[in-house]
Amino acid sequence: MTTPHATPAKAGLFITFEGIDGAGKSSHIDALAAALRAQGRQVVVTREPGGTPLAEKLRTLLLNDAMDPLTEALLVFAGRRDHLRCVIEPALARGDVVLCDRFTDATFAYQGAGRGFDVRLLSILEHMAQAAPALGGDSIRHPDLTLWFDLPPADAAARLAAARTPDRFESQPEDFFARVAQGYADRAAGAPARFVRLDARQERGAVWAQLAAALAERGHLPAAAGATA
Ligand code: TYD
Repeated sequence: MTTPHATPAKAGLFITFEGIDGAGKSSHIDALAAALRAQGRQVVVTREPGGTPLAEKLRTLLLNDAMDPLTEALLVFAGRRDHLRCVIEPALARGDVVLCDRFTDATFAYQGAGRGFDVRLLSILEHMAQAAPALGGDSIRHPDLTLWFDLPPADAAARLAAARTPDRFESQPEDFFARVAQGYADRAAGAPARFVRLDARQERGAVWAQLAAALAERGHLPAAAGATA
């Protein structure tokens, strides 16, 4: 029952952050969470691989243990299903904003374009793992908006070399990242309404301004938010 004066509940909003390793996306997630909370939104910040106790265990395996491409793809989607069921779908049902550091576009970019795994099989797994009864019919859950931090692979490699000890993906050669970057470009071309391309070569404040402008255009942040990060 709603009272006549109740504020209508906000619809859930699912935003993903994507880009090759070193593109700088992670540093913007907390800033966006803070900006959205300042607008009165409830925000869940999460990541993939991971996001639940089970999926975090799978993340440790994925980032550290050698395995064949099919095993890798199955583990990625197993973790994603658990994450959707336990965290993402309940949050969206409550009307929260979900900010997720990587999601299925990463699987198509890394396992598909990067490793050369059969993308038709990835699509089948996507349909199995992301079936969303809450959406009705045989719909699958996709992000509402994907912020794609686009950075040339050579720039990303230079940033990573200066930053930290690489994991199993980060230690791949530059041509792997060139394929991953192309994979993201193809995904973006296939879903232009969902993807926002951010020029990640710019310095942090300028990237934030692009991001905040994209959110403001869609009515999720006030127009002035770009100036305050
Ligand atoms: P990443 O966001 O880079 O974590 P961190 O910045 O904390 O190291 O994600 C870890 C790695 O997982 C990254 O190299 C990309 C890879 N990955 C896949 O290969 N497939 C996927 O589906 C996802 C979500 C990530």
